[in-house]
Formats: sequence, structure tokens, C-alpha cells
Amino acid sequence: MNRRDAAQRRKLPLLSDHIGGRSQLTCLYRCGDACSHPVPNTSDNPYMGDLIASAVSRRSVFKAGVVVTAGAGAAGALGSAAYASESDGAQSSAFWGSVPRGLRFDAVEPNRDDAVTVPDGYEQQIVIRWGDPILDGVNEFDPTAQTPEDAAGQFGYNCDFLALLDLPGERRSKVLVANHEYTSESMMHYGYDSAAPTREQVEIGWASHGLSVVVLKEDKNSGDLTPVVGHELNRRVTATSEFVLSGPAAGSDLLKTTADAEGALALGTLNNCAGGVTPWGTILSGEENFNQYFANAGQVADATAKARLARYGLSGNASERKWEQYDPRFDVLQEPNEPNRFGWIVELDPYDPDWTPRKRTALGRFKHEGAGPRVDRQGRVVVYMGDDERFDYMYKFVSKHRMKSGSSRSAREHNRKLLDEGTLYVAKFTGDSPGEIDGTGALPDDGAFDGSGEWIKLASGDESFVDGMTAEEVYVFTRLAGDKVGATKMDRPEDVEVNPKSGKVYAALTNNTQRGTSGRAAADEANPRNSNKHGHVLELEERHGDVAAVTFGWRLLLVCGDPEDPSTYFSGYPKEKVSPISCPDNVAFDPQGNLWISTDGNALGTNDGLFGVSLTGSTRGLTKQFLTVPLGAETCGPVVQDRHILVAVQHPGEVDGASAETPASQWPDGPNGVLPRPSVVNVVKDRFGSIGC
Ligand code: FEO
Ligand code: CA
Ligand code: CA
Ligand code: CA
Repeated sequence: MNRRDAAQRRKLPLLSDHIGGRSQLTCLYRCGDACSHPVPNTSDNPYMGDLIASAVSRRSVFKAGVVVTAGAGAAGALGSAAYASESDGAQSSAFWGSVPRGLRFDAVEPNRDDAVTVPDGYEQQIVIRWGDPILDGVNEFDPTAQTPEDAAGQFGYNCDFLALLDLPGERRSKVLVANHEYTSESMMHYGYDSAAPTREQVEIGWASHGLSVVVLKEDKNSGDLTPVVGHELNRRVTATSEFVLSGPAAGSDLLKTTADAEGALALGTLNNCAGGVTPWGTILSGEENFNQYFANAGQVADATAKARLARYGLSGNASERKWEQYDPRFDVLQEPNEPNRFGWIVELDPYDPDWTPRKRTALGRFKHEGAGPRVDRQGRVVVYMGDDERFDYMYKFVSKHRMKSGSSRSAREHNRKLLDEGTLYVAKFTGDSPGEIDGTGALPDDGAFDGSGEWIKLASGDESFVDGMTAEEVYVFTRLAGDKVGATKMDRPEDVEVNPKSGKVYAALTNNTQRGTSGRAAADEANPRNSNKHGHVLELEERHGDVAAVTFGWRLLLVCGDPEDPSTYFSGYPKEKVSPISCPDNVAFDPQGNLWISTDGNALGTNDGLFGVSLTGSTRGLTKQFLTVPLGAETCGPVVQDRHILVAVQHPGEVDGASAETPASQWPDGPNGVLPRPSVVNVVKDRFGSIGC
């Protein structure tokens, strides 16, 4: 175990106060400076305030199904022995009182350290870093001598989503799958000239995007996880790897290009953000801010084409990375349909390197954050999804066919087609406290931001349910379909995941500082704060727990921020006993069913982190910070298992003014390292015990 070196905890430059707490550099490279561009959703699709009146008649439909007793008033039951960061370390069950198993640790204090900080009694280990070889015959990382070939055999840049899977038949082995969302060229290359990148730099960028699959060995005593270089399952998927376009939009004219006259085979995956693990053992990964890689959308003459591009945030002339200089498919004037081949959920089989990964068109095209799959007892499959943009929508897909259990070849073949046929829906949220949402975050009289909802059908197979759009158009221009049917404009819906214990669905809504500003949708009950800097977390329950239901109940679990800020809400849990939390992004669940949230862009001015949240009983709303990540970094990909917590530390040191020549972080390699390196961190309890127990 590499205990954090106290010497590395030196204070470094302050984060900028760019929108959402992110640095300008992160905005530039990660999402193509989305915050500085106009909001792509200019539809007059009504926002919820307009719909409240019509909702009243429906308000009783779900009230009973909406669950949970609010935690309000539970403080007394908690008693004095509850969660306590001031704990003296006497961690018996009696000491922890009603704090649920999984959350019994001393919360980490907010900080701005250049380190990963974990609770007392826990240790951390770097599993793998950007540039570490995973394939045989690849050179060790050397930023002065990188080649595209080496990069394509090394762990990629800016790891994001993580999955840690069992590897049956190999003792103490696991399979790690990681997304590599984006590259930050000025942090990767010495002497980088953004006006004139070299072909080699561009090709290193292509090779550093995508996904990694790498087998890890687990030390049975320490819990350390060590890559097995050259394992037969190890692979890199990059911006140039082959993907089968599958599902109802495959073969559409909208997907055809010069290189692919059939609209059947796309090259590469880009900006893979969050993801999910299917019940049949494959990985889903969301292609998010793909717009930024394409040049010259602003010069497109055709008005319909230009409007479609603009709805997806494509505009302007040269792209930031100038890839169009080395491959014309990144120039929309030359290949107008190439952007349509990105913005999908991709499916990859980590156990089958010979299976070409798929782009699943049935799940729609938008800025996919991630995908939260679930199978019910009848074998029906649902996938929940968020479109991470201010004022964009939440979706679900329900499969036509049922999953086959077992690991036979025929079951696997069947299950790997499940996401090609089914029905795509978009969400409409209706509050039950009409007229009481004033945008300040003040709770309505019923004590909750809550209400009912509707899944609006968009398309199923070749059938469109959207007036004026064919099914192919619905799949390829899904945002426009959502506009037409009156979906609810949300505050950046990011990760949407199902709690395997309860079947309830949790969505992180990161922030939206434009909520309620001039000409923009005002606060509504599902997005109850104007100028929403800190975001919120929504809990959704399908009617009767039916994954295919077309109506649902919902309520907000958290309205984030400094607990001393009166606009925050922790389900009624005593605010003096919770950790500050801002900008929820990725969500996960531990084996006990507690919610875990990682943050992106902490607008409270301290480093991002990982938090555990109790969902039930008297401690519902209890929020505890488990770790913080280094200066400038974002916490991604949390995996929370019985004895491991893994996080992806994305873009360490990415603060304004930083570059390869002037790094703002020494993480993870310390003073003798060369550059800050995005890495995967494994946290275990002392003596490799159960986390939080
Ligand atoms: Fe890649 Fe929406 O964060
Ligand atoms: Ca209410
Ligand atoms: Ca995210
Ligand atoms: Ca993120």
C-alpha cells in the first residue's frame, strides 16, 4: 500500500471560480466549453410551471407509491452516538448507533490538498495510471517519447466510468473496464501548439480516448490490485476502433458516409463518460460531448441540417483539437453524417475480445452521460439514461424481449441483442405543490419536492410516436423528439442508476446556473432552485415497481450545497451532521443499498469527492464524505464493493494556467514524477475488512 505522503499535501494554486467550479481548461477540453455557448435547447417545449395546473387532477395517482417516509423529525431517534467526524475511533456497533452499515467511517473534511484523502483506518493504492502498458510489447510511459502505437497499448487518458468484474476460473482475478473520456493536449505534450498540432499528437489523442479492459490480480492480504500486462482479455478501444451500428437506425441514410456506404460500421468512440454493467455481463458506455470534435458546423448552408447540428451543440469553424486537419471525417462540410455516428450508448463485452462492440441506436442519440440497466423478475430489461446538458432530458429504454439466464452460448448471443429492439421513452415530471415553487429552494407546504411523472413514448422499432418525425429521425435526433413531446427540461441529468436493493432509480442533476435566467425555464418542483450552482439528486419509483410502467412517482433526495445554506435539503436529516456536497455527477450503490455519489466541479471551492448517503429509515439523507481527490481533479467512476472502493481520478492538476511545462499537481507520482496522471485508485479498509462496517 502506498500511504499518502504527507509531504505531498502541500497547498497548490486555488481553483478558478469558473462556472460550476471547473477550470477553464477542463471546460475547453472536456465539453468543448459548453457553458460558454448558447444552451442548445431553444425549444419552446413548456417547462413544468406551465403544466402544474393540468397536473393537479393527476396528483393523487402516485402519491401513495412515492415511497419513503421523509427523514424529517428523525433527529431525535438518531441520538448522540450517530455519525461523528469527531469520533474517537471506538467503532463498535453501539458506537455507530443507527448509522447504517456501509457508512460507518469518519467523514473526510473538505480540503484543497494535492492528494487523495481517505478516512482514518483506510488505505489507498494506485491501480493504474495514464500511460501504464496493458498490452505486451508496449513501451513504458515517457511523455517525451510517446507514440500513437504505444498510447494504443497503454491505459488511456482521463479515466471516467469504471467497472470491476469477477473473472470466473481465474483465482483472485478481476476485470477492470474504464472509459477514457477526453484528452487535455496542453497537459499531455510538452510544447503543445493548439493552433498547429502535429499528426503524431493528434493520433496520440485518438489512441488515448475510448476504453480499456485490463485484468487485475488481487492480493488476498492487502487488497492491492495489480494489472496483468498482456492478459488475453486486455484490450484498448480507441477513437479509431470498429463499432457495429446496430438496432433500428442502422443502415439509415442519416448514418451513411463516404467510408461506410451501408451506414453499418463506425470508427471509434468519443467522450465516453459514465456507463453501466448489464445483467448479462457486458458494459454500456455513454458517448457524451462528441460535438466538440467536429469542425465547420457553423458553415453548413442547409437550414435543417444546421438546426439539427445546433441542437447537439455543433457550431463554429475549426475544432479545438484540429483533428479535421488529419481526417476529413471530422469536418462536417466534407462528411455531414459523421457526427450522427456519435452520441450513442455503446456496448462492449469484456469477456469476449472477438465480439465487435456495438453502438445501440435503439437507445437514442444525445449527449449520453451513462446507462443504468436493470432486469426484473420476468426478465424484462430497462435502461435509464440522462442527457447531460442544461435543460435537457431523462430517458428510458425497455427491451422487447426478455433476458435469458445462464451462461450458455445461446443465452449470451440472445442477451447481446436485447438492446436492439424495444421502446424508447422520455420523462415528464409534474410537481404536486403547484404555485409553491419560488426558485429559492424553500420547501413547499407538503414538506417535499415531489410529484408524479410520465414516460412519453418516442419510438419502438420502426414505429415513431412523434408527430412529424420518422422512427429513424427519432433515434438519430432524439433531442428534437423530446422537444416535440413536452419532456421536462432538467438541470443537467447525469448518471441515472437503479438501486439493486430497492429497484428505485436515482438521478444526479449536476447544476444549471442558467435556470430561471432571462428567457430560460424557471424553477419547477423537480428543479426547484434558480441559478442552481450545486445540483440535486432525484429518486424515482416506477408504478408498482414495473420496469415497463409509463407512469412513476418521484421526489428529491438531496438539494446540494453547504448545509448552512437554507436552500439545501437532506431529506430532513439534521444538516449539522452532514458533509457539504456540490455538483453530484456519478452514482453507485454499495452492497447494503446505500447511495454513493461522486462530484464534478464542487462549487463550494474545495476539491471534488465521493460521498455515501443513507436512503432509508431514520438516517435517510445522512451524507458523509468518504474521500477527496487532488487539486483540479474530478471524482469519477465509483465502484463500491464489500471490500474495495475504486475511483477514477480524472484530470488532476487541470486548473487555469496549468500545462505540461507548468503542472499544478504532483499527483500521483510525487516530486519525482513527470506529469500529473489520471489514475484509478483502490481504497480498502485496514486488514482488508468490509468497507464502512
Ligand atoms: Fe462527462 Fe456529464 O460528465
Ligand atoms: Ca411537493
Ligand atoms: Ca459525468
Ligand atoms: Ca464526470
